[in-house]
Amino acid sequence: MRLYLISLTLLILSRRSEGTAQAPWDVRRPNRTAGVSPAVHFAGGDAAQRSQLEQALGDAALLASKGIPINFNMYAAMEFFGALGYIIGTSYERIIQDNFARAAPHSTDAGYVNLTCDDPAQRCGSPTTAAYNAESGAYPALAFCPLFFQQRSMAEAIRYAADPDGGGHRWDLRNYDHNQALIVLHHIMHINAVGQPPITDVNTTYHGGENRALGPKYWKYLGIENERDNVAQTIRNADTCAQYAMGDNRLVSSSC
Ligand SMILES: *[C@@H]1O[C@H](CO)[C@@H](O)[C@H](O)[C@H]1NC(C)=O
Ligand SMILES: *[C@@H]1O[C@H](CO)[C@@H](O)[C@H](O)[C@H]1NC(C)=O
Ligand SMILES: *[C@@H]1O[C@H](CO)[C@@H](O)[C@H](O)[C@H]1NC(C)=O
Repeated sequence: MRLYLISLTLLILSRRSEGTAQAPWDVRRPNRTAGVSPAVHFAGGDAAQRSQLEQALGDAALLASKGIPINFNMYAAMEFFGALGYIIGTSYERIIQDNFARAAPHSTDAGYVNLTCDDPAQRCGSPTTAAYNAESGAYPALAFCPLFFQQRSMAEAIRYAADPDGGGHRWDLRNYDHNQALIVLHHIMHINAVGQPPITDVNTTYHGGENRALGPKYWKYLGIENERDNVAQTIRNADTCAQYAMGDNRLVSSSC
Protein backbone atom coordinates (compact mmCIF):
# COMPACT_ATOMS: atom_id res chain seq x y z
CA MET A 1 0.00 0.00 0.00
CA ARG A 2 2.73 2.42 0.89
CA LEU A 3 4.70 1.62 -2.21
CA TYR A 4 1.54 1.97 -4.22
CA LEU A 5 1.00 5.46 -2.83
CA ILE A 6 4.55 6.37 -3.64
CA SER A 7 4.15 5.17 -7.20
CA LEU A 8 0.90 7.03 -7.59
CA THR A 9 2.60 10.14 -6.34
CA LEU A 10 5.32 9.76 -8.90
CA LEU A 11 2.81 9.39 -11.68
CA ILE A 12 0.94 12.48 -10.62
CA LEU A 13 4.14 14.38 -10.25
CA SER A 14 5.17 13.42 -13.76
CA ARG A 15 1.98 14.77 -15.18
CA ARG A 16 2.31 17.95 -13.21
CA SER A 17 5.89 18.59 -14.20
CA GLU A 18 5.63 17.84 -17.88
CA GLY A 19 5.62 20.97 -19.94
CA THR A 20 6.06 23.32 -17.00
CA ALA A 21 9.46 24.84 -17.49
CA GLN A 22 10.81 25.32 -14.01
CA ALA A 23 13.37 27.93 -13.20
CA PRO A 24 16.62 26.47 -11.97
CA TRP A 25 17.24 26.09 -8.31
CA ASP A 26 18.49 29.27 -6.77
CA VAL A 27 18.61 29.60 -3.04
CA ARG A 28 19.54 33.25 -3.01
CA ARG A 29 17.40 35.07 -5.51
CA PRO A 30 14.74 32.68 -6.65
CA ASN A 31 12.68 33.64 -9.60
CA ARG A 32 10.63 30.90 -11.14
CA THR A 33 9.84 32.93 -14.26
CA ALA A 34 13.27 34.25 -15.01
CA GLY A 35 14.69 31.25 -16.82
CA VAL A 36 18.34 30.81 -15.98
CA SER A 37 18.84 32.94 -12.93
CA PRO A 38 21.87 35.17 -12.62
CA ALA A 39 22.59 33.44 -9.32
CA VAL A 40 23.09 30.10 -11.03
CA HIS A 41 26.36 29.87 -12.88
CA PHE A 42 27.13 27.18 -15.39
CA ALA A 43 30.67 26.23 -16.21
CA GLY A 44 31.63 23.72 -18.86
CA GLY A 45 29.28 21.30 -20.52
CA ASP A 46 27.49 21.72 -23.81
CA ALA A 47 24.04 23.11 -24.57
CA ALA A 48 22.39 19.70 -24.29
CA GLN A 49 23.94 19.13 -20.88
CA ARG A 50 22.88 22.53 -19.62
CA SER A 51 19.39 21.84 -20.80
CA GLN A 52 19.34 18.55 -18.89
CA LEU A 53 20.71 20.31 -15.81
CA GLU A 54 18.04 23.00 -15.97
CA GLN A 55 15.34 20.37 -16.16
CA ALA A 56 16.86 18.43 -13.27
CA LEU A 57 17.20 21.56 -11.14
CA GLY A 58 13.60 22.50 -11.81
CA ASP A 59 12.42 19.00 -10.94
CA ALA A 60 14.55 18.97 -7.78
CA ALA A 61 13.13 22.34 -6.75
CA LEU A 62 9.63 21.01 -7.26
CA LEU A 63 10.42 17.98 -5.12
CA ALA A 64 11.90 20.09 -2.34
CA SER A 65 9.00 22.52 -2.29
CA LYS A 66 6.55 19.62 -1.98
CA GLY A 67 8.24 18.70 1.26
CA ILE A 68 6.91 21.91 2.86
CA PRO A 69 5.13 21.66 5.15
CA ILE A 70 5.58 17.99 5.78
CA ASN A 71 2.50 16.25 7.03
CA PHE A 72 4.09 13.82 9.41
CA ASN A 73 0.85 11.97 9.90
CA MET A 74 1.63 9.99 6.82
CA TYR A 75 3.04 6.54 6.52
CA ALA A 76 5.68 7.80 4.12
CA ALA A 77 7.36 10.03 6.69
CA MET A 78 7.48 7.12 9.10
CA GLU A 79 8.98 4.85 6.48
CA PHE A 80 11.74 7.29 5.71
CA PHE A 81 12.60 9.20 8.87
CA GLY A 82 11.43 6.88 11.59
CA ALA A 83 8.59 6.28 13.97
CA LEU A 84 6.45 9.39 14.29
CA GLY A 85 6.62 9.27 18.07
CA TYR A 86 10.26 10.15 17.80
CA ILE A 87 9.59 13.07 15.39
CA ILE A 88 6.34 14.86 16.10
CA GLY A 89 6.77 17.58 18.68
CA THR A 90 10.51 17.07 18.88
CA SER A 91 13.27 19.26 17.51
CA TYR A 92 13.64 16.79 14.62
CA GLU A 93 10.34 17.91 13.16
CA ARG A 94 11.55 21.50 12.85
CA ILE A 95 14.94 20.42 11.51
CA ILE A 96 13.42 18.36 8.69
CA GLN A 97 10.99 21.12 7.76
CA ASP A 98 13.71 23.77 7.77
CA ASN A 99 16.06 21.70 5.65
CA PHE A 100 13.43 21.29 2.96
CA ALA A 101 12.57 24.97 3.18
CA ARG A 102 16.20 25.89 2.56
CA ALA A 103 16.44 23.40 -0.30
CA ALA A 104 13.36 24.80 -2.00
CA PRO A 105 13.72 27.56 -4.55
CA HIS A 106 11.83 30.24 -2.70
CA SER A 107 14.16 30.31 0.25
CA THR A 108 15.85 33.65 0.67
CA ASP A 109 18.39 33.07 3.39
CA ALA A 110 20.97 30.84 1.79
CA GLY A 111 23.66 31.17 -0.80
CA TYR A 112 24.20 30.93 -4.43
CA VAL A 113 25.15 28.00 -6.55
CA ASN A 114 27.59 27.20 -9.32
CA LEU A 115 27.09 24.24 -11.57
CA THR A 116 30.08 22.84 -13.29
CA CYS A 117 30.86 20.04 -15.68
CA ASP A 118 34.57 20.73 -15.37
CA ASP A 119 35.24 18.16 -12.63
CA PRO A 120 37.08 20.56 -10.30
CA ALA A 121 37.98 17.86 -7.76
CA GLN A 122 38.78 15.28 -10.44
CA ARG A 123 36.36 12.73 -9.11
CA CYS A 124 34.55 11.92 -12.35
CA GLY A 125 37.04 9.15 -13.11
CA SER A 126 35.19 6.94 -10.61
CA PRO A 127 32.74 4.70 -12.48
CA THR A 128 30.04 5.32 -9.87
CA THR A 129 30.27 9.09 -9.47
CA ALA A 130 27.50 10.96 -11.26
CA ALA A 131 27.78 14.22 -9.32
CA TYR A 132 29.43 15.62 -6.24
CA ASN A 133 29.50 18.65 -3.99
CA ALA A 134 32.39 20.98 -4.57
CA GLU A 135 31.94 23.75 -2.07
CA SER A 136 34.84 26.13 -1.97
CA GLY A 137 35.06 29.60 -0.56
CA ALA A 138 31.81 31.47 -0.24
CA TYR A 139 29.77 29.59 -2.81
CA PRO A 140 28.46 26.08 -3.08
CA ALA A 141 29.17 24.29 -6.31
CA LEU A 142 27.69 21.12 -7.70
CA ALA A 143 29.83 19.19 -10.14
CA PHE A 144 28.28 16.89 -12.73
CA CYS A 145 30.11 14.01 -14.38
CA PRO A 146 29.39 12.26 -17.70
CA LEU A 147 27.58 9.52 -15.76
CA PHE A 148 24.97 12.04 -14.63
CA PHE A 149 23.94 12.75 -18.20
CA GLN A 150 23.42 9.04 -18.85
CA GLN A 151 20.73 8.86 -16.16
CA ARG A 152 17.03 9.19 -16.78
CA SER A 153 15.28 12.47 -16.17
CA MET A 154 12.62 12.29 -13.48
CA ALA A 155 9.87 12.08 -16.10
CA GLU A 156 11.73 9.37 -18.00
CA ALA A 157 12.20 7.35 -14.83
CA ILE A 158 8.51 7.57 -14.08
CA ARG A 159 7.57 6.56 -17.60
CA TYR A 160 10.04 3.69 -17.50
CA ALA A 161 8.71 2.41 -14.20
CA ALA A 162 5.15 2.58 -15.46
CA ASP A 163 5.90 0.54 -18.56
CA PRO A 164 6.32 -3.18 -17.85
CA ASP A 165 7.03 -3.81 -21.53
CA GLY A 166 10.05 -1.58 -21.18
CA GLY A 167 11.33 -3.67 -18.30
CA GLY A 168 10.01 -1.35 -15.63
CA HIS A 169 7.78 -1.96 -12.70
CA ARG A 170 5.99 0.85 -10.96
CA TRP A 171 6.24 -0.75 -7.53
CA ASP A 172 9.96 -1.27 -7.71
CA LEU A 173 11.57 1.76 -6.12
CA ARG A 174 14.86 0.97 -7.81
CA ASN A 175 13.29 2.11 -11.06
CA TYR A 176 13.11 5.66 -9.73
CA ASP A 177 16.55 5.65 -8.17
CA HIS A 178 19.39 7.56 -9.82
CA ASN A 179 17.11 9.81 -11.81
CA GLN A 180 18.63 13.21 -12.43
CA ALA A 181 16.26 15.14 -10.15
CA LEU A 182 16.95 12.79 -7.25
CA ILE A 183 20.68 13.14 -7.77
CA VAL A 184 20.43 16.93 -7.82
CA LEU A 185 18.23 17.12 -4.73
CA HIS A 186 20.53 14.70 -2.91
CA HIS A 187 23.44 17.06 -3.48
CA ILE A 188 21.42 20.17 -2.69
CA MET A 189 20.70 18.61 0.70
CA HIS A 190 24.47 18.29 1.20
CA ILE A 191 25.12 22.00 0.67
CA ASN A 192 26.34 23.62 3.89
CA ALA A 193 23.78 26.40 3.69
CA VAL A 194 20.94 23.90 3.35
CA GLY A 195 21.46 20.94 5.70
CA GLN A 196 21.62 22.00 9.33
CA PRO A 197 22.96 20.06 11.12
CA PRO A 198 25.07 18.99 8.14
CA ILE A 199 23.51 16.32 5.98
CA THR A 200 26.15 13.73 5.32
CA ASP A 201 25.72 10.23 4.06
CA VAL A 202 24.99 7.92 6.95
CA ASN A 203 25.73 4.20 7.17
CA THR A 204 23.29 1.49 8.07
CA THR A 205 24.22 -1.76 9.75
CA TYR A 206 20.80 -3.38 9.52
CA HIS A 207 20.81 -6.97 8.20
CA GLY A 208 24.48 -7.41 8.81
CA GLY A 209 27.39 -5.68 7.20
CA GLU A 210 27.81 -1.95 7.04
CA ASN A 211 26.68 0.02 4.04
CA ARG A 212 26.09 3.62 3.15
CA ALA A 213 22.36 4.27 3.26
CA LEU A 214 22.09 4.97 -0.45
CA GLY A 215 19.37 3.58 -2.67
CA PRO A 216 15.99 2.15 -1.66
CA LYS A 217 17.29 -1.00 0.00
CA TYR A 218 19.68 0.74 2.33
CA TRP A 219 17.73 3.88 3.18
CA LYS A 220 14.84 1.59 4.04
CA TYR A 221 17.12 -0.39 6.31
CA LEU A 222 18.15 2.87 7.94
CA GLY A 223 14.49 3.80 8.43
CA ILE A 224 13.71 0.42 9.99
CA GLU A 225 16.55 0.95 12.41
CA ASN A 226 14.40 3.73 13.81
CA GLU A 227 12.70 1.18 15.97
CA ARG A 228 15.64 2.07 18.12
CA ASP A 229 15.18 5.81 17.55
CA ASN A 230 17.93 6.96 15.27
CA VAL A 231 16.14 9.95 13.79
CA ALA A 232 19.33 11.81 14.58
CA GLN A 233 20.82 9.70 11.79
CA THR A 234 18.02 9.67 9.22
CA ILE A 235 17.87 13.47 9.22
CA ARG A 236 21.54 13.50 8.25
CA ASN A 237 21.19 11.09 5.33
CA ALA A 238 20.88 12.95 2.03
CA ASP A 239 19.29 10.05 0.17
CA THR A 240 16.58 9.72 2.82
CA CYS A 241 15.66 13.38 2.29
CA ALA A 242 15.72 13.29 -1.51
CA GLN A 243 13.80 10.03 -1.78
CA TYR A 244 11.29 11.16 0.81
CA ALA A 245 10.56 14.27 -1.23
CA MET A 246 9.93 12.06 -4.22
CA GLY A 247 7.71 9.64 -2.37
CA ASP A 248 5.87 12.08 -0.10
CA ASN A 249 2.34 10.77 -0.44
CA ARG A 250 0.96 14.09 0.65
CA LEU A 251 1.13 14.94 -3.04
CA VAL A 252 -1.58 12.42 -3.72
CA SER A 253 -4.17 14.27 -1.71
CA SER A 254 -3.07 17.71 -2.84
CA SER A 255 -3.25 16.67 -6.47
CA CYS A 256 -6.54 14.82 -6.58
C1 LIG B 1 11.61 37.37 -12.46
O1 LIG B 1 12.08 37.28 -13.79
C2 LIG B 1 11.23 37.89 -14.73
C3 LIG B 1 11.77 37.57 -16.13
O2 LIG B 1 13.14 37.87 -16.20
C4 LIG B 1 11.16 39.37 -14.42
O3 LIG B 1 10.28 40.01 -15.36
C5 LIG B 1 10.62 39.59 -13.03
O4 LIG B 1 10.67 40.94 -12.69
C6 LIG B 1 11.49 38.82 -12.02
N1 LIG B 1 10.88 38.88 -10.69
C7 LIG B 1 11.58 39.23 -9.62
C8 LIG B 1 10.82 39.22 -8.32
O5 LIG B 1 12.76 39.52 -9.66
C1 LIG C 1 31.04 30.64 -8.93
O1 LIG C 1 30.85 31.50 -10.00
C2 LIG C 1 31.22 32.81 -9.74
C3 LIG C 1 30.84 33.64 -10.92
O2 LIG C 1 31.24 33.06 -12.12
C4 LIG C 1 32.69 32.87 -9.46
O3 LIG C 1 33.06 34.20 -9.14
C5 LIG C 1 33.00 31.98 -8.28
O4 LIG C 1 34.38 31.94 -8.05
C6 LIG C 1 32.50 30.59 -8.54
N1 LIG C 1 32.69 29.81 -7.35
C7 LIG C 1 33.07 28.54 -7.39
C8 LIG C 1 33.18 27.85 -6.08
O5 LIG C 1 33.33 27.97 -8.42
C1 LIG D 1 30.34 3.15 5.85
O1 LIG D 1 30.39 1.89 5.23
C2 LIG D 1 31.34 1.79 4.20
C3 LIG D 1 31.22 0.41 3.58
O2 LIG D 1 30.10 0.36 2.76
C4 LIG D 1 32.74 2.03 4.75
O3 LIG D 1 33.67 2.01 3.70
C5 LIG D 1 32.78 3.39 5.44
O4 LIG D 1 34.00 3.54 6.07
C6 LIG D 1 31.67 3.49 6.46
N1 LIG D 1 31.65 4.86 6.99
C7 LIG D 1 31.65 5.13 8.27
C8 LIG D 1 31.58 6.56 8.63
O5 LIG D 1 31.70 4.27 9.13
